[in-house]
Amino acid sequence: MTLWQGRLPDTAPEVRLFCDSFGFDRRLYAADIRGSIAYARALGRAGVLTPGEVDAIVRALERIEVEFKTGAFVAAPGDEDVHTAVERRLGELVGEELAGKLHTGRSRNDQVATDLRLWLLSEIPGIREGLLSLGEALVAVAEEHLGLVMPGYTHLRRAQPVLFSHWLMSHFWRFFRDLARLDGLVEGIAVMPLGAGALAGNPFGVDRELLAAELGFSGAAANSVDAVSDRDFVAEFLFFAALAAVHLSGLSEDLILFSSPEFGFLELDERFCTGSSLMPQKANPDPLELARGRAGTLIGALCGFLSVLKGLPSGYNRDLQEDKGALFAAVDSLRLMLPVFAGIVRTMGVRPERMAAALDEEMLATELADYLVEKGVPFREAHRAVGRFVRRARELGIPLGELPPAAYREAHPALGDVPPALLDPRRAVERRRHPGGTAPERVREQIALAKEMLVERRRNE
Ligand code: ARG
Repeated sequence: MTLWQGRLPDTAPEVRLFCDSFGFDRRLYAADIRGSIAYARALGRAGVLTPGEVDAIVRALERIEVEFKTGAFVAAPGDEDVHTAVERRLGELVGEELAGKLHTGRSRNDQVATDLRLWLLSEIPGIREGLLSLGEALVAVAEEHLGLVMPGYTHLRRAQPVLFSHWLMSHFWRFFRDLARLDGLVEGIAVMPLGAGALAGNPFGVDRELLAAELGFSGAAANSVDAVSDRDFVAEFLFFAALAAVHLSGLSEDLILFSSPEFGFLELDERFCTGSSLMPQKANPDPLELARGRAGTLIGALCGFLSVLKGLPSGYNRDLQEDKGALFAAVDSLRLMLPVFAGIVRTMGVRPERMAAALDEEMLATELADYLVEKGVPFREAHRAVGRFVRRARELGIPLGELPPAAYREAHPALGDVPPALLDPRRAVERRRHPGGTAPERVREQIALAKEMLVERRRNE
């Protein structure tokens, strides 16, 4: 039996197969039932339902929720979507006459938009926790290894030395911004569409502000036509998810590279690797690769959903049902990925000797140029002189530090008395002691600030 049985014949089976959404929207059951319980009470206050009717409906809805939770809920052939399924079951429990009153003034258009917002709000704490735990893991490892110097890269070529902790913290700040971005989304999600009806509003005197407060929304939507079609919150969440996944993919790439035998700076805990079906020796970083790939899928979900929204006529259109696939995939991906990353970061081994071995003296060429600047040489001239010097060393196949003083003087007279300490990577790191710089005391401050900010975000839970 369909909801529109009064008007239409039975829907063609192929249409049902294509259009039904119960297969994937059943996971909205708790939100749907919560919304229906609140709506039943609102109808009671408006005098549409008697107190006894409200009670009977609420008790039955609570029972249906338990049925879903325990897996006892049995779908019927007419269950097109979660809203239909719950209403059908309600009819079985309280009689169709009473169940039929619950939908007074309500449409699945305001209902589904309300459910999706409630559901997303209920998922946010889990995603926040994932971001917080990953942030805490990055900070803990950065703190543990404070002082360790590693090569910093640009264009994946050795550039200048930085602290290992500084590199780790560079990833931390990305995820911290994701957390702040997520918290910023709540305001847009917490707007209640219920009471908008199909599009024109509710004529039964439902107190929408009270209803909104009961459901934990910050208020009711200001325009009923907008309320049923507004999926900005989905697009915004998909952007948040895509960017967080981009950040995860960047961390993945660094971890894959740095844990490769060729770099060897890090060692992944083998519990976070998977083996090969053919090559017995392998321990592959599959979770990191899969996350790197998933970022592409999530970017696709964002672009795809924006394309769904583009040019839609106003009001509800069934195109909007596409919101669920994209949103569920984004939420599930983050909830599954974030704990994996926190685990990988916390358990990875750190190999200081491999980092030290990769710190060649050419990475200190900038220090030589800066030294000339301190002697009054204009930077461009200093850059050229040191560049020539590096080229000469390469031609001779001799490391910079082993070239005789004459070679230094030849490159630039002012390089004649370079103190050997200048070619110490630690000195290069320690010189950058402005706020945000890589000097150990600054990175220590950075870590302290990050910890404070994490504690504050946890307080806002
Ligand atoms: N399954 C639909 C959705 O997800 C529910 C709303 C259906 N409304 C309608 N007018 N057909 O959007």
